[in-house]
Amino acid sequence: MSGPNNDYDPVEVTPLHPDEVDRMKREALDAIAAAGDLPALKQVRLDHAGDRSPLGLANREIGALPPQARKEAGIRVGGARREVKEALERRTEELEAEQEARILTEEAVDVTLPTDREPRGARHPLTTIQERIAEIFVAMGWEVAEGPEVEAQWMNFDALNMGPDHPARTMQDTFWLEPSGSGLVLRTHTSPVQARTMLERTPPIYVVCPGRTFRTDELDATHSPVFSQVEGLAIDKGLSMAHLKGTLDHFAAGIFGEGVVTRFRPSYFPFTEPSAEVDVLCFVCRGESPAVESCRTCKGEGWIEWGGCGVVNPRVLVACGVDPDEWSGFAFGMGLERTLMFRNDIADMRDIFEGDVRFTLPFGLEV
Ligand code: PHE
Repeated sequence: MSGPNNDYDPVEVTPLHPDEVDRMKREALDAIAAAGDLPALKQVRLDHAGDRSPLGLANREIGALPPQARKEAGIRVGGARREVKEALERRTEELEAEQEARILTEEAVDVTLPTDREPRGARHPLTTIQERIAEIFVAMGWEVAEGPEVEAQWMNFDALNMGPDHPARTMQDTFWLEPSGSGLVLRTHTSPVQARTMLERTPPIYVVCPGRTFRTDELDATHSPVFSQVEGLAIDKGLSMAHLKGTLDHFAAGIFGEGVVTRFRPSYFPFTEPSAEVDVLCFVCRGESPAVESCRTCKGEGWIEWGGCGVVNPRVLVACGVDPDEWSGFAFGMGLERTLMFRNDIADMRDIFEGDVRFTLPFGLEV
């Protein structure tokens, strides 16, 4: 009968010799220490801790040994394998931590880096100047009023003392809306908002109205069929030309800077009486010789025409339901593109409309 030969106890089977186990273990530990990243460590695991690794194969040999030798070899090989396994676990943790730290630094976003490499849009200067004007007046307790761009001719002309045969109607080249006889126009100025406001509210009234206006002008360096105006209207008791002058001086200082000088020149508008053109002393040459002669901003005039104004004609008050015996008021109206042009030294009005970001960018910085 054959059975385990308990007497046979060879000194060593070669792979299980203590020196050999020790060598395999050290090789494994060295390889683990040398693995620089997780994929490399995975390969080390296969080579040194897998079933077909030297220690794995040695483990298989153990079963063939007689009991005493099996026990000793088991302790030796088992101990070596455990050490290798623990070293693998530690190295895995190390490499995982390293990888995480690397990802954190590599993928970190430096929020302090400048972000202006992409061209940014900018607020349009017509928008910023309208807001600035509104702020100047709101600070004085005025309100901002609006009216429609498609306007009844009655509001645009009749209410403002420009009857059907009034010659002033031809001063403003009007876009009429079809069908003919519709009685609708694209408003030629912001003054119809005066009429609307008086009809809607009871005095005292203090309103500014920035808005788009339309006239049949050809587009060139100083004209456009679509342009913008800002209208102002004040109705109260005892208002005079002096209040108008003071208001416009304050307005001019807010737009062109402190110390700006204005003057009134007699003029005519059907809706104001007396009427005036308001000019601003050229803030580039200040009207002084010899600079004025070659001044681009005022074209050698010394003064710049800014807008129209006057005391509201009592006929307009009556048409809009305001009692002229009790109330009086003043009104003014300015072109916003013109204002921008001489304020910011813009030579061609078309630049304002073309929407080129290179033009609007410097204005966009203005708040
Ligand atoms: N509406 C006038 C224009 O467009 C300007 C103006 C407004 C004049 C208010 C006087 C009073 O020319």
